[in-house]
Order: sequence, then structure tokens, then C-alpha cells
Amino acid sequence: MLRHSDYWESFLNSTFRINVAVIGAGAFGRNHARVYHELEQQGEAVHLAAIVDADPVRADAVAREFGARAFGSLDQLLTWNEIQAASVAVPTQFHLATARPLMEAGIDVLIEKPIAATLAEADELAQVAKQYQRIAQVGHLERFNAAVRATYPLLNHPLFFEVHRLSVFSPRSLDVDVVLDLMIHDLDIVLSFVNSPIERLHAVGLPVLTSKVDIANVRLEFASGCVANLTASRVSTERVRKVRFFQPHQYLSIDYGRQDLLVFTVDPSGTNPVPGQPDSMIKVAKPVVGAEEPLRAELRAFLHSVRTRTQPVVPLEDGRRALSVALDILSAIREHGQRIQVPSMQ
Ligand SMILES: NC(=O)c1ccc[n+]([C@@H]2O[C@H](COP(=O)([O-])OP(=O)(O)OC[C@H]3O[C@@H](n4cnc5c(N)ncnc54)[C@H](O)[C@@H]3O)[C@@H](O)[C@H]2O)c1
Repeated sequence: MLRHSDYWESFLNSTFRINVAVIGAGAFGRNHARVYHELEQQGEAVHLAAIVDADPVRADAVAREFGARAFGSLDQLLTWNEIQAASVAVPTQFHLATARPLMEAGIDVLIEKPIAATLAEADELAQVAKQYQRIAQVGHLERFNAAVRATYPLLNHPLFFEVHRLSVFSPRSLDVDVVLDLMIHDLDIVLSFVNSPIERLHAVGLPVLTSKVDIANVRLEFASGCVANLTASRVSTERVRKVRFFQPHQYLSIDYGRQDLLVFTVDPSGTNPVPGQPDSMIKVAKPVVGAEEPLRAELRAFLHSVRTRTQPVVPLEDGRRALSVALDILSAIREHGQRIQVPSMQ
């Protein structure tokens, strides 16, 4: 076994193989395991070494599927002492209790979204990461969507957003409201696009099939003058995941599912529209965005940060920022529900 100091020396000077663990072998943790395994098979300097789950049958099944070692608890993994980085894919309420001992043991972490259940927990994660000098990334997957990545260089002054994330009901992630489950993806994207403080927020939402909020709508008004309307539902009959926004002379439409981006640009110096053909001065572009699976791009970026000791693309501050807005939205929804006396929200 390598001593820690030997490990870091060879690690920084070469493409030393990073041994990773996935903590939580549920629906999404299995995806992390699959992608680490695929990266390893494709020649990346990474090795999926361990799977940890409180349910040993699950840990065993996923570990067997991808040729890793199974552990029934984090303590067992930590005594093994072979891991340098880990994905934390346990339910949100356990993110802090899982990521803290990992970081204290010198392990870098990719923590699934939302970063934590409360801001106090998010702050504690940041404090531990700083104290133990760990790379800590939050799993805001859509940052790695090829269409989103192609949008950043085109941003100038976004003024109005319409965002829809609708999904059909499935009995997963029901421990949290739809705002923390689904809308938080879009909150993170809009906040990263607009980069301006929120001045006002109006929200409505309702429980439909569960005791938590299943459908929600929010209007965010930013200091820059930008307004964003976001709708998220997990009780829809169709699946839609789109961000559409306007900025001077441009309309951009992102389809997360198809990973494509459409850009409509009005030529400001162009001639007036031809009567009956108002689109004659509009240019349409579909920038080539590639189609790498977002989770693959996310895990590659995490491994790069681990190897180079550089700030991750989605640092803990960004996870906290999205969580903070999500919690404000939930408070506004509760207040609205009580004001209009929605029976299940009293
Ligand atoms: N980025 C995304 O698009 C995305 C999508 C789905 C889920 N997620 C996030 O991933 C996380 C997991 O979600 P999921 O849908 O896979 O949940 P899940 O319920 O399917 O799986 C969670 C697993 O964690 C295990 N577990 C619970 N507590 C544990 C503990 N203390 N130690 C070890 N194992 C423990 C459970 O036995 C279970 O196997 C959540 O934070 C969720 O928000 C992210």
C-alpha cells in the first residue's frame, strides 16, 4: 500500500490512477458507478474500487456488476484506506454525515445535488472542505450538458427566461419537494447565466400526489432587470426540460434532453422585415454542441480537479447559492398556501 505522501507525489507528477468509491448504490449512485467503470475501460486513469450502501444487498449487486468491492458502511470503507475520491449519492439528508468523514479522511468528494438539506449543513461542508483542503464539487449535472456549455460564450445581457422541467410521476426522491428535487437544476443554471442578486421572488406550488410540493412556479426578479419564470412538475403527463431566454437581439432555446441549442438572432442593422415575411431579418443557428453524456463530462471534470487540485466547475458555494434560493421559494410557497388556505398546507 502507498503511504499518503508517496501517493500525492506520484499522483501530481503523472496520470496516476485515482481510486474512487461510490457511496449510495441507489438509482443515481449506480449511474456514477457505471460511468466511472466506463471511463476506466476507455483508458482514463481512474479505478472504481468500492461501492458502499447501507443496504448490503444493493452494495453487493452494484459492486458485482462493475467489478468493485462492496462495503456495508462508510466506517468499513475508511478502514480500508485505499480511496482518493468519492461520489456521495445517498439521500440529501445524509450528505453532510457522509461527506464529512470522507473529507476528514483526506478523500475528495463529488456531492450529489442538492448540496444538503439546510444552509447550516452546506456551510459545515464548506468549512470541512476548507479545513482538510479537499476538492468538493456539487453534482449540478446540467452544467455539463453540451447545450448549456455552448450557451455560456453567447451570454451578453439575459433579460427574460421561461424555464420548464416537467416529468411524469415516479416514486423516487419523494423525501424532498419538487423544488429541491427538480427545479434546483434550473435554478443553478439560471443563477450561473444571470450572475446578479435576486431582488424579488413570487412563488406558488401544490402537493398533488404526495404530501410535499409536487408542482411549483416561481418568478425571480434580478437586480440586473432580468426576470425568470420557472415551472417544475413531477406529476406531468409529458417530459419537458427546456430553458428559453431573450437577450438584446437574440432568443436562445436550450433543450436539455436533446442537448441542443437554437439561437435566433435579429440583425440590428438589417433591413425592415419584408411585409408578410417577418422572419426575413432573423438568422437561425444551431451551434454544434456534441453529445457527451452529461454525467460522463461531470465525472471527468471532477477527476481533473482532483488530479490538478484546481477549483471544480461547480464549487460548494454554487451548490449553497442554488439551495438558498430553493429554500426561499419553498418558504414563499408555504406562505402563499397558508394565505389562500390550501387544506394540505395549513
Ligand atoms: N444529478 C441528478 O440529476 C440526480 C438525479 C437523481 C438523484 N440525484 C441525487 O442523488 C442522491 C441519491 O438519489 P437516488 O435517487 O439515487 O436515491 P435512492 O433512494 O435510489 O438511493 C439512495 C441509496 O443510498 C443508500 N443509503 C441511504 N443512507 C445511506 C448511508 N447513510 N450510507 C450509505 N448508503 C446509504 C440507500 O440504501 C439507497 O441505496 C440524492 O441526493 C438525489 O438528489 C441526482
